[in-house]
Amino acid sequence: MIKVVSIVGARPQFIKYFPVSKAIKKENDAQGVLIKDILVHTGQHYDYTMSKVFFDQFGIKEPEYHLEAGSGTHGGQTGRILQKVEDVLISENPDMVLVYGDTNSTLGGAIAASKLKLPVAHIEAGLRSFNKFMPEEINRILTDHVSTLLLCPSKTAVKHLLHEGMNNVLNDGRLIPDDYLFQTGHTINAGMNNPLVINVGDVMYDVLLHSLRIAERTSQILEQLDIKGQDFYLLTLHRAENTDNPHKFEEIMNFVNEISSGRTVIFPAHPRTKKVYKNTQWKPGDNIRIIDPVGYFDLLMLLRNASLAMTDSGGMQKESYWLKIPCITLRDETEWVETVESGWNVLYKDYHKPHAPSDGEENYYGDGTSAGKIIHAIIRSVRKQ
Ligand code: UD1
Ligand code: UDP
Repeated sequence: MIKVVSIVGARPQFIKYFPVSKAIKKENDAQGVLIKDILVHTGQHYDYTMSKVFFDQFGIKEPEYHLEAGSGTHGGQTGRILQKVEDVLISENPDMVLVYGDTNSTLGGAIAASKLKLPVAHIEAGLRSFNKFMPEEINRILTDHVSTLLLCPSKTAVKHLLHEGMNNVLNDGRLIPDDYLFQTGHTINAGMNNPLVINVGDVMYDVLLHSLRIAERTSQILEQLDIKGQDFYLLTLHRAENTDNPHKFEEIMNFVNEISSGRTVIFPAHPRTKKVYKNTQWKPGDNIRIIDPVGYFDLLMLLRNASLAMTDSGGMQKESYWLKIPCITLRDETEWVETVESGWNVLYKDYHKPHAPSDGEENYYGDGTSAGKIIHAIIRSVRKQ
């Protein structure tokens, strides 16, 4: 029996955990129970629309531990997460701790585990914006540097880790085929002092492929908003760098006004953004419809039917790319550089350049079977034979 603890706490992490839990179930059904899947919710996100809606939609089990860390300053929130995760890890003593992405829950979980000398597997390792003013950049760099398994979504992510001295790389950094880790001849040598870098692709693509048909069948969002068949844009905005400074927020929203020129803009607003916008000079025009955050299936239907996405979300940049919806990223840089290179995404400062989408390019983020590859990597690295 292999015991794996997953640490999640923020919206995109519930979404990323879903395919991983599904892959564990699949492996257990095929082999008899092999992996014990323990879920820890740090409580970083807690509103229904930021947390439980994803558990309900994906049928994710009730977490074994709910730490109720809540909101606060970075130090306060990360500190509470670290301390509470440590208690869980001491009592569970797992074989592997899984952390996802780049939030404070990721960092708190990774530090707690590594100080207990427990191996950490980082899903979405190797991303870099090269902007250390972003809290996420600090979180991902520190997490990568205490991880044992670096599970990268792309070749670019592998390249960043190589530049930082992590040169124990499987398959020359190319996406590993499904059965690669169980083929004879591939030694898996991963340790805290010798972390293993593997390109497994992006679990968010697994989720999208799983969800498209379900979303089409079940989502009523277009009818509820009375926008079926209409031309509309979709907007999301929540990054600290865009919401903490009212001037930056106003600059971005003025850009949105200009680009939309009266067209309907559906804006499911993160609670952080809702709290700040009322204190700024910006007033939404009649065309901008601010709504509560929506569930994943509704978001997919909104995105699929929009003629343009404007966002500072990492997840939505890739979802726009996979669905071939033009996207303007409301940031000065992006980690998901391939979406820009493909022509489907453009940074807002470069908006004057036309979108030039290219057809038929490779999918830079894997083949939609990332979670299975992750579980195989964990099994092989724990068992070592
Ligand atoms: C966090 C992540 C960010 C990720 C985002 C996903 C960090 C540093 N940032 O940002 O990388 O893209 O989650 O959505 O971890 N709030 C509520 N209800 C909630 C959750 C938050 O009202 O359920 C409000 C609180 O006022 C809180 C603020 O939103 O202070 C920010 O929440 P927090 O979790 O600190 O950061 P996010 O902006 O959500
Ligand atoms: N999302 C959602 N409802 C919303 C906004 C976003 O389900 O109202 C999904 C989105 O499709 C993507 C994920 O949440 O899968 C991205 O989360 P977020 O933008 O909060 O974080 P990031 O990806 O930037 O870390």
